[in-house]
Amino acid sequence: MSYKILDVQNLTAGYGKLPIIEDMHAKVDDGQIVVIVGPNGAGKSTLLKSIFGLNKRMSGDIVFESRSIFDAKTSELVPMGISAVPQSHNVFPTLTVEENLDVGTFAAPPKDKAATKAKILTLFPDLKDKLRQQAGELSGGQRQMVAVGRALMSDPHLILLDEPTAGLSPAYLEVIFDLLLQVRDSGVSILMVEQNAKQALRIADYAYVLVNGKNAYEGTGAELLKNDEVRKSFLGGGAPK
Ligand SMILES: Nc1ncnc2c1ncn2[C@@H]1O[C@H](COP(=O)(O)OP(=O)(O)O)[C@@H](O)[C@H]1O
Ligand SMILES: [Mg+2]
Repeated sequence: MSYKILDVQNLTAGYGKLPIIEDMHAKVDDGQIVVIVGPNGAGKSTLLKSIFGLNKRMSGDIVFESRSIFDAKTSELVPMGISAVPQSHNVFPTLTVEENLDVGTFAAPPKDKAATKAKILTLFPDLKDKLRQQAGELSGGQRQMVAVGRALMSDPHLILLDEPTAGLSPAYLEVIFDLLLQVRDSGVSILMVEQNAKQALRIADYAYVLVNGKNAYEGTGAELLKNDEVRKSFLGGGAPK
C-alpha cells in the first residue's frame, strides 16, 4: 500500500542531543484521520513537532506526498501543504476571530482567500456571527474551532492536531470530533494526538499507540478498541464500545 500523504520512517528525534522518539513509524493515507494515543510523556507532541520542523530530527525519514521533508523548515512546510495546531496557546486571544483566521494565510496565502474563509465558516458555522469578537472571549470549544480554522486557511492537505479536545466537556468533545470528520471529508487528511483515547479511536481510520517514544500497538480504530491489552493499559479497561 502506498501512503500518499505522510510516511514517517524509522524516525528518531528529540531535543538537543536527547532522543525522545526512537525508530518510530506512522503513516497517513489520503482522506484519513490517523490518531496517536499513549501515556503522558510518551513523545506524542514531540512526534508532531518533529514532523512540523520544530525540534531536532536525528535519523530516519519523513516523506510528505512522495518528497522527503526530513530537512525541511516549518516555513517551507506550510506552503507545501502541512499546517499544525499546537497543544496550547493556539489562538491569539486579543485578535478577533477573523484576524485569527487571517493569520493562517500569512505563511502560505490560499488561492482565493474569501472562498477558503467561506468554506471554513461552512464547516464551523458557530464562528460566523463571532468574526468580530476577540478569540479570548470564546468558549474552549469555539477557540479550538478558531485554531483549526486558522490551520485550514492555508489550504493544507494535512493538518497536525495536538489534543484538539483538551479541557473540553464530554458533550463538546463529540462536537469537535464530528467537525473533524467533516474536515476529513472535505479532503484534508488529519494526524491527531488525543488524550481522550476511546472517543478518538472511534473516529480513527488508523491509530498508533506510542509508549516511551516507541511504537507499541497499531491498527484501525476499531481493532485497537477491541484489543484486550490496549483496552486494559491505555483505555481504562472496560468493555469495548
Ligand atoms: N522542549 C523540550 N526540551 C527537552 N525535553 C522536552 C521538551 N519538550 C518535551 N520534552 C520531553 O520529551 C518527553 C516527551 O514529551 P511530549 O512529547 O510532550 O509527550 P506527550 O505529548 O506524549 O505527553 C518528556 O519527557 C518531556 O519532558
Ligand atoms: Mg503532548
